[in-house]
Amino acid sequence: MITLGVETSCDETSVAIVSGRKILSNVVASSLEEQKRYGGVVPEIASRAQLEVLLPTLDEALKKAKVPLRKVDLIAVTRGPGLMGSILVGLSAAKALSLALGKPLVGVDHVLAHAYAGFLSDPKLKFPCLGLVVSGGHTMLLRMESASHMKTLGKTLDDAAGEAFDKVAKILGLGYPGGPEIDRLSKKQDPNVFRFTRPFLSSDSLDFSFSGIKTAVYHQVEALKKKAKGPGPKVRAQICSGFQEAVCETLVKKSVRAAARENLKTIVIGGGVSANSRLREMMAEAADEAGLKAVFPPLALCQDNAAMIASYGEALYREGRRDALDMPGYPDFEHHDGATSGRK
Ligand code: KG4
Ligand code: ZN
Repeated sequence: MITLGVETSCDETSVAIVSGRKILSNVVASSLEEQKRYGGVVPEIASRAQLEVLLPTLDEALKKAKVPLRKVDLIAVTRGPGLMGSILVGLSAAKALSLALGKPLVGVDHVLAHAYAGFLSDPKLKFPCLGLVVSGGHTMLLRMESASHMKTLGKTLDDAAGEAFDKVAKILGLGYPGGPEIDRLSKKQDPNVFRFTRPFLSSDSLDFSFSGIKTAVYHQVEALKKKAKGPGPKVRAQICSGFQEAVCETLVKKSVRAAARENLKTIVIGGGVSANSRLREMMAEAADEAGLKAVFPPLALCQDNAAMIASYGEALYREGRRDALDMPGYPDFEHHDGATSGRK
């Protein structure tokens, strides 16, 4: 079976061709360079860029996979959550392809697809497992029972992990996106020079909260500004390291706790922040200690990409999922009585 996936939820435009968990092509175009000038994603710029590059990206994906359009058996597309203007570009294109080719259509939740990305990098990976999604917009712990049944165990009550990285980078005068820069600057720094509170770690809850650490960094920087001109490069790097350590420790400890509580032996990590080198290191160590397996997808599958959409869409299709041509997109993640498979 050959599945074509389309992802346009934010500033990336991606089209992929997969067969099950095998990636035949995964082309990603991004308006990030344009967005950098504004220090964040401007929705209007993102959706216009989507419209411009979607068809060339589709052509390139088919060409790279050496698959003609008529050989495609299924169309999978991101329905949400994300920027509505951007989502509608991909959703309309996917519907048009489904109609023109007479092939079935499956709408995919972007956050759950991030959780599924680990399945593409590890062919032996099986359900059930624990999913940790850490992206720019979401932080979530999931019990992954099957493709169509994922239960939310915990989520962020305020900022997402990636959002906290981006906001802290802004406070420190670093570029956008902040995650990679903080990751780079933190290397070889002592994380205990500036020690920030680990939010909610003492509580039983599997929810997260990251806005407090961000505010603590802000006050720290303001205090340093009063004393001198503000933090120099060395101190900035130490603050980055202290912040990163607090976020990673919270993510790792809660994941291990959730796995034990749910009696799950594997943790699959996905989303942009799963590219973080300290998170990878800390999670691998903690999983080892607890006798768990931690699966980190390669970088290309951590960031927004259509391969995870296509493969996850195919898994949903195999579990019986079909969507109609009038299926709407949605901007926010939805919960259904604790159990969720994105929107029905
Ligand atoms: O999953 P993603 O590409 O887009 C969303 O669906 O949100 O995630 C983007 C986020 C950004 O906030 C970015 O700063 C963060 O992932 N990120 C990182 C790293 N690389 C990207 N955060 C920490 N460390 C990294 N190495
Ligand atoms: Zn994403």
